[in-house]
Parts: sequence; C-alpha cells; structure tokens
Amino acid sequence: MGLIHSYALWNNKGGVGKSTITFHLAMRYAELHPQTKILVIDLCPQANSSMMLLGGGPVGEENIINFCKEATPRSVVGYY
Ligand SMILES: Nc1ncnc2c1ncn2[C@@H]1O[C@H](COP(=O)(O)OP(=O)(O)O)[C@@H](O)[C@H]1O
Ligand SMILES: [Mg+2]
Repeated sequence: MGLIHSYALWNNKGGVGKSTITFHLAMRYAELHPQTKILVIDLCPQANSSMMLLGGGPVGEENIINFCKEATPRSVVGYY
C-alpha cells in the first residue's frame, strides 16, 4: 500500500513542541487508523520523539542508547 498521508514538522528553534506534537500526531493517527502501519522518521539528534515512541522516560532513553551501540546504529543520535 502506498503512502496515504504524510506530515512534516520542522522548526530550527528548540523547545517549541516539535517532538511532542510529532508523538501526539502519530498516536492520534494510529487511534483513528488502527489497521494502518505508521512510520515516524525522527531526524532530530535529541531523538525525543523516538524516546517517547520507544517507551518514554528512562525506558525510552535506554532503548535509544542501545540502538546507538549497535554496529550499524539505528538512530541519527551521534551522527551530528
Ligand atoms: N502544547 C504544549 N503545552 C505545554 N507544554 C508543551 C507543549 N508542547 C510541548 N511542551 C513542552 O515543551 C517542552 C519542549 O517540547 P519539545 O516537544 O521537546 O520541543 P522541541 O522538539 O521543539 O524541542 C517539553 O518540556 C514539552 O513537554
Ligand atoms: Mg525535539
């Protein structure tokens, strides 16, 4: 199945709600489209959206750290 909807959130300023809005947008979309696979591409080196989606809090943080330790890191954290 092709791409049905796509949303891009970008702002050069930090702390304006990009990660929070991304998380809520993805969650709400999932609620409304339970049969649809949803892809979130987090290109922020802080990876806050990824951390929220990977369990949040210390769990999300640990999951991102583990992604970064892999031979081929599965996060952009550390690339910038
Ligand atoms: N709508 C909102 N109302 C109140 N606080 C918010 C809102 N959106 C984000 N925040 C808070 O503002 C801070 C920065 O949000 P964040 O999503 O991390 O920004 P960014 O990704 O742009 O750096 C966080 O502490 C977050 O919890
Ligand atoms: Mg952010």
